[in-house]
Amino acid sequence: MIGPAVTSDQPAVAALDAACFPKDAWSSGSWADEFAREDRQILVAETPPGDSATPPGDPATPPGDPATPPGDSATPPGERSTPPGESSQVVPTADTAGPGSMLGFVVLLVPAAAEDPVDLLRIAVDPAYRRTGLGRRLLTAALEHHPTRTVLLEVAAGNKAAIGLYRGFGFREISRRRGYYAAGEDAVIMQRAGEDS
Ligand SMILES: CC(C)(COP(=O)(O)OP(=O)(O)OC[C@H]1O[C@@H](n2cnc3c(N)ncnc32)[C@H](O)[C@@H]1OP(=O)(O)O)[C@@H](O)C(=O)NCCC(=O)NCCS
Repeated sequence: MIGPAVTSDQPAVAALDAACFPKDAWSSGSWADEFAREDRQILVAETPPGDSATPPGDPATPPGDPATPPGDSATPPGERSTPPGESSQVVPTADTAGPGSMLGFVVLLVPAAAEDPVDLLRIAVDPAYRRTGLGRRLLTAALEHHPTRTVLLEVAAGNKAAIGLYRGFGFREISRRRGYYAAGEDAVIMQRAGEDS
């Protein structure tokens, strides 16, 4: 289930961030700032409320998308709303109520001025759920809100997984910052043009 982050997601998002970016995780203060800012769009992928996170391939996992069980359709009162294009939601019952497990997130900086580019600041998927299409689904859900806007991002040159993901969305390298990262690795700046450009 993918939807806008709510305040109570902050600790789980920060924990997943720390697991996915051990060398440059954002501090809890930074995450509080991200959650508070109006120019941020944060989407999260979670297991349905009450479900435990069971990695794909585990015999207990039913077939299909782990974050979007088939057949669920309604958004329950008080739950996050569904962004356009996301159709699968879960209705918690008394038996299943409770927080789901955080499987992934994406953070965009969306300037109010429509002519300014959107920045993709962060995307991550729980290592146990990678290569299941979740990163693609998160990015699809985030970008479909901004079809006409230019989107920029920065990625380490050696991050083949992320670069492969971005290329699949039409991002192309536009420049490089040589030796930008602490280990001397280049930063690659990628851009995706809006539909009208
Ligand atoms: C980058 C990341 C978000 C991808 O998430 P994911 O859920 O595994 O990606 P998906 O399963 O949706 O894969 C989508 C496409 O990305 C590319 N890709 C993903 N993982 C890849 C890998 N290990 N090697 C090469 N390409 C890869 C492929 O093109 C893939 O399409 P395919 O499966 O049809 O070949 C995930 O690897 C991650 O969290 N990495 C650590 C955090 C990070 O580096 N974030 C980006 C910098 S901000």
